[in-house]
Amino acid sequence: MQKRIVSGMRPTGKLHLGHYLGVIDNWVKLQNDFDCYFFVADWHALTTKYDKTENLRQDILDVTMDWLACGVDPEKSTIYVQSQIPEISELHLYLSMITPQNWVERDPTLKDMAKILKSKEGMASQINYGLMGYPVLMTADILMFNADFVPVGIDQVAHVELTRDIARRFNNVYNCNFFNEPQPKLNNCSLICGLDGNKMGKSFNNDIKISDTAEITAKKVMSAITDRSRMRKDDPGHPDECEVAFKYWKIFGNENEIETIRCECEKGLRGCADCKRQLGAKINERMAEIREKRKYYEEKPEVVQNILKDGAEKARKEAKNILKEIRSLIKMY
Ligand code: TRP
Repeated sequence: MQKRIVSGMRPTGKLHLGHYLGVIDNWVKLQNDFDCYFFVADWHALTTKYDKTENLRQDILDVTMDWLACGVDPEKSTIYVQSQIPEISELHLYLSMITPQNWVERDPTLKDMAKILKSKEGMASQINYGLMGYPVLMTADILMFNADFVPVGIDQVAHVELTRDIARRFNNVYNCNFFNEPQPKLNNCSLICGLDGNKMGKSFNNDIKISDTAEITAKKVMSAITDRSRMRKDDPGHPDECEVAFKYWKIFGNENEIETIRCECEKGLRGCADCKRQLGAKINERMAEIREKRKYYEEKPEVVQNILKDGAEKARKEAKNILKEIRSLIKMY
């Protein structure tokens, strides 16, 4: 039997190349060797944005369309929206009973979030009970399907550790060996930076979206930062100090191209504008098929809805089976 993987993403709307190269492309590979459950974490979105839900449905669709366009395959993986699986919320409740308060209080991501929230005005500046419990909710997402592995970024590893702690505690408390202790699965691909050299992020206005057109992508790439010390195009360049463009080449180019570009740049034979024009074209080449697929789904939202419906049905069947056993272990009525 294939080992099982569970991973989720918050519905933040249209995804960018950081998501594609850092997360989704990895999922696409994993789905060949593992029994994969990929979900849109809409309850997690509520932990901080409970008062901004106007775009939630569209954001869920956008995230799903990006996944499908990039090659997450409903024939291989189970793709669903978290809130369509009410069993997860029941499991969350049981797990909350056995989780010591200080286990969630020491969560590093939560501490960071608390800091950010405190700096905001108004209602959303306090930490609500739901946000406090979000590492436990994440645990429920994972244990609901008794996952073996959880592909996550380094910032989420602490949560998978907590998941292991809670799984172990459940097994102890109810004197069973029901839950696996799932392991984080780190992706070793290099992170793509934003057009300004900082971390790529939607709110930093420095991203290239998966769904951006070729024209927009080309234009955005022209704004990328290069070697700041270079004044004229025939000055010798310093590829290793080029803050964005050469880094992108290392991701999108093949070995030959990268070497040629390095040589030409160092000899002053390649201006930054030309270099970025070529780079834009290169990125567009890689994204062309994905964007075409995305367009197909945009024009057929009912296809996407159906994929999510089928995925939820499949996930729910499994969740129900697992929850039945959990209820019996806890001796619920
Ligand atoms: N907490 C994750 C994030 O903010 C998303 C997430 C929710 C998740 N539940 C999960 C990831 C379960 C992996 C497994 O990015």
